[in-house]
Amino acid sequence: MIKLRLFLSCIAFLSPILHIKGDDFKEEMFIKPIPPSHLYVYFQFLTVANGEESFEHSHLAPRSLGEIVSRYQVEELHLTLTEGQWKHNEWGYPVLDAAPGAELYVWFSPEVVDVDTQWKKLSSTLSGLFCASLNFIENMNTISPKMALWPAGVTGKSNHNITSQLRYASLPREIVCTENLTPWKKLLPCGSSHGFSSLLNSRMIHNTNYHSIGVHVRRMCADSSCVETNLEIKQTVALVYDFKIIKSMDWSIRKLFGQGLPGACPLSSSSKIYVDTTSNNSYPFKLHPEPNSIMLSHRGGSELELAVYDINHSNMMNVRASYEENNEIFVKIPPPLTFNRYVLGYGKEFGGIVTELSNNYWAPIDVVLLENAPWWLPIQLSTLRINGEADSKLIMSKYYSPGRNRQKPYHLELLIKLPPKTTTTVTIDFEFVYLKWQEYPPDANHGFYIGSALISANLPTAKNYTSLPITGSTFDSIINASKPWYPIVFRTNGAIVSLPTPDFSMPYNVICLACTVVALAFGPLNNICTKEVVLKLTGAPVSLKQKIFNIFKKKKD
Ligand SMILES: *[C@@H]1O[C@H](CO)[C@@H](O)[C@H](O)[C@H]1NC(C)=O
Ligand SMILES: *[C@@H]1O[C@H](CO)[C@@H](O)[C@H](O)[C@H]1NC(C)=O
Ligand SMILES: *[C@@H]1O[C@H](CO)[C@@H](O)[C@H](O)[C@H]1NC(C)=O
Ligand SMILES: *[C@@H]1O[C@H](CO)[C@@H](O)[C@H](O)[C@H]1NC(C)=O
Ligand SMILES: *[C@@H]1O[C@H](CO)[C@@H](O)[C@H](O)[C@H]1NC(C)=O
Repeated sequence: MIKLRLFLSCIAFLSPILHIKGDDFKEEMFIKPIPPSHLYVYFQFLTVANGEESFEHSHLAPRSLGEIVSRYQVEELHLTLTEGQWKHNEWGYPVLDAAPGAELYVWFSPEVVDVDTQWKKLSSTLSGLFCASLNFIENMNTISPKMALWPAGVTGKSNHNITSQLRYASLPREIVCTENLTPWKKLLPCGSSHGFSSLLNSRMIHNTNYHSIGVHVRRMCADSSCVETNLEIKQTVALVYDFKIIKSMDWSIRKLFGQGLPGACPLSSSSKIYVDTTSNNSYPFKLHPEPNSIMLSHRGGSELELAVYDINHSNMMNVRASYEENNEIFVKIPPPLTFNRYVLGYGKEFGGIVTELSNNYWAPIDVVLLENAPWWLPIQLSTLRINGEADSKLIMSKYYSPGRNRQKPYHLELLIKLPPKTTTTVTIDFEFVYLKWQEYPPDANHGFYIGSALISANLPTAKNYTSLPITGSTFDSIINASKPWYPIVFRTNGAIVSLPTPDFSMPYNVICLACTVVALAFGPLNNICTKEVVLKLTGAPVSLKQKIFNIFKKKKD
């Protein structure tokens, strides 16, 4: 431990000398109270490595991930592992949205010809790196979205066919736990001993309503000419605490993570904590200690107030918020776009998936809806209805790729113009399919998960709601952005369907019943066949009178 500390302080001392051009590490923490019930905590660790060739010489970027990126010729990679469901209607928007379970999407370089093979190899390698079941990603559950996803970084050679190099898969059943967090922390330059990442112990993280860990790799221009590119690795953790679990609305770093913050990571060029104080108007609270500065962000018409703490090396610190008494009823303004998804139908023959999209804004919003159904849930394009109409004028463009049994999922993308202040309902029917008996999971009666739908939109920056879209990479860079809209991708909730399932308990019942019958029959048969029948002599035969007399005699005793 002492050795490590010495080593780290040595590096911190030498880092201006050792500094390699373009190498950088920043850590950021964003805390947003969502009164009256929840608290959102988001960590972001940004590592920038210089260039493509000299990647191995970076002293900050994780080597294991760097090798994967260069070996499989990855342009951009997004991996998230999430437990729980983000409630957009209640909590507003997260900094980065993630689908429940595991989600992976990757753009490969245009030089990659056989994208499918490369994708399979990449997902198996990542599965080993993060101890997640990403090796279950196959052609059977992979799609290549045409409209819904766009790269966040620069994509090398221009004019190439971007969507043909993209692969997307989600595993809604994947369960996230400690074994995923440990390898994730190993990718950070300070590991779990120093800086913000020392707060991330699994005991506290798994005590939350929602948690999501992610790795996002993209290429960024090294300078304004954009001849050279840097590789940016963004590692994120999103947590939602319930005030009921932490027992009061007053929160502090010590209460949330079981310990104070032991200073910044010595390798970081900046370590900052941002507290969103926008909710102070309706639920006033005080911060201790006083923040180093207050940051006002203006985007379009929206205003966001952040209290900023600059964290220095080596001193232990705790940020604490104490709330005043408040009995006011807080009216929440819904975000501009909200959605809901559920499964229809009864019986075991037909059903439907319904996605409701609500535009709460005063102008129309264009969204792309991506439905991705597994091969065992055939959705038919002919049954597509929007607000009950088969041939709706709201659809501006569509893409449909039918699935194939055990080979390819069903993939539907719709570009829809959502009219202002209305809810648009998209319904599509499916049939149930019989699986082969080995294809059922061990708990077949629990139901089968279908993944989330993707919704991507260019949202207007309106005055009445606050959300935090990150189009730039750090929180500093979002300040005073002048764009009137920003791109964003959401995931709806997943769903469970129950497929027709054979009665797997039948063989068990038969065995039980047969065994009982054999056991019952065995005793008497065994007795009859093996025991000798001996006549027991008891002297003179007893008369009936004597018998009755004997009974009374016993009672008297
Ligand atoms: C991109 O590739 C797909 C299939 O590989 C093809 O159908 C499509 O026409 C291509 N688009 C362009 C703009 O070349
Ligand atoms: C919240 O508002 C009160 C007064 O309205 C002010 O005293 C307090 O400092 C504010 N808290 C924060 C965190 O800005
Ligand atoms: C960190 O150091 C700077 C200057 O050295 C100082 O202004 C600031 O208050 C310090 N922050 C904390 C949290 O101690
Ligand atoms: C925002 O507030 C203004 C007036 O305060 C209102 O006219 C407008 O409809 C609101 N926008 C949304 C999205 O609620
Ligand atoms: C953003 O704009 C506001 C007002 O327009 C200004 O007060 C603030 O200093 C600006 N912030 C930055 C970082 O430029």
